[in-house]
Amino acid sequence: MMNQEEQLQLYNGKRVLVTGGFGMIGSNIAIKLSDLGAFVTILDSMVYGMGGNYFNIEPVKNKVRIAKHPISHSLLDIRSPHEDLLPFLDRVDIIINCAGQVDHQWSVTHEKEDWDINVNGHQNLLALVATLPKKPAVVFTSSRFVYGNVPEGLINEETVLAPYTPYGLHKLKGELIHEELAKTHNIPVTIFRITNPYGLRSHMRDKISYSVVNKTFIRKALGNEPITLFEGLENRMYDYIFIEDIVSALLLGGLNATTDASRYNLGSGKQYSLNQIAQNIIDVIGGGEIIINPCPKNYQVAIGKKQMNINITKIQKELKWQPKVDLIEGIQRTIEYYHKYRDKYWT
Ligand SMILES: NC(=O)c1ccc[n+]([C@@H]2O[C@H](COP(=O)([O-])OP(=O)(O)OC[C@H]3O[C@@H](n4cnc5c(N)ncnc54)[C@H](O)[C@@H]3O)[C@@H](O)[C@H]2O)c1
Repeated sequence: MMNQEEQLQLYNGKRVLVTGGFGMIGSNIAIKLSDLGAFVTILDSMVYGMGGNYFNIEPVKNKVRIAKHPISHSLLDIRSPHEDLLPFLDRVDIIINCAGQVDHQWSVTHEKEDWDINVNGHQNLLALVATLPKKPAVVFTSSRFVYGNVPEGLINEETVLAPYTPYGLHKLKGELIHEELAKTHNIPVTIFRITNPYGLRSHMRDKISYSVVNKTFIRKALGNEPITLFEGLENRMYDYIFIEDIVSALLLGGLNATTDASRYNLGSGKQYSLNQIAQNIIDVIGGGEIIINPCPKNYQVAIGKKQMNINITKIQKELKWQPKVDLIEGIQRTIEYYHKYRDKYWT
């Protein structure tokens, strides 16, 4: 089998649709694909309050096509009518499906809205894919939240699932929609259960409650505010993965998709406590403070009771993928990016 870099070169000349392409993961995918010589179309409706940002695609804005309604020129959505979406899916080789509502805490109070995007949206898009004469491969971005409150211990892809937030349940339903498409319509699919992404091009707005490393820690540290940790959670261990490693994995997933709809845990394979991450950020910036506050009750409900030790053996073995960016380098590169482009992300 070719190594990671050799495989990625196969994207040269491929037609790739990136849903959620103005968001953190999708925009980094679109930029890498353009660099590799792929023809990229972005399908992203810039849903209010989510991570979409036109500036995210600045380096490739003249190279990518954006899916818009032919008459109104409004941005299309994965929930748009099939006749509007069809011209942008026709003859596509691979779909990297990153559109989604990402805030698991928000899903607790906005269950219907979360279902509408994370379930109905993908059902609509994939029902159209099923009708295409030339079937593209599809990569789905699922989440560690499908595991939910599983027993402590190393989590592999066979671990029994116990999602407990609407977000976790709906991401699982999204996986099943993709699996059904693979099995019923012979469409190659790969599904990734992503742990905790951080890095370039994530939104940094204060009111959104996911992406602890980016929004909560780095935003505060760069603003000379203390980093606040919640009492009782500061030593919980989680797996954090740098965006560049997510991009390489998703792209390998597109090249190696099969009708088995394989699931892969996608993390760094290393665990860090929130306290360690905060301390590393302070070290990289060269100053700052950590304070411990009481944990709000509703936050405990949404975050669940367990820390997660994610096993990444399957993706390493089957896709020949390796995480390459360690935590310190990832934090340094993230801070460098937001130092430079702070005005594009803070409000
Ligand atoms: N960031 C995380 O913590 C995390 C962790 C695990 C998995 N994921 C998954 O990865 C995917 C991408 O996440 P991200 O971090 O890039 O989020 P993001 O919020 O930065 O980007 C999501 C993008 O999807 C777009 N979008 C939302 N609903 C849409 C719709 N109906 N039609 C078209 N576009 C729509 C938004 O406008 C936004 O630009 C999501 O499916 C998410 O569930 C994210």
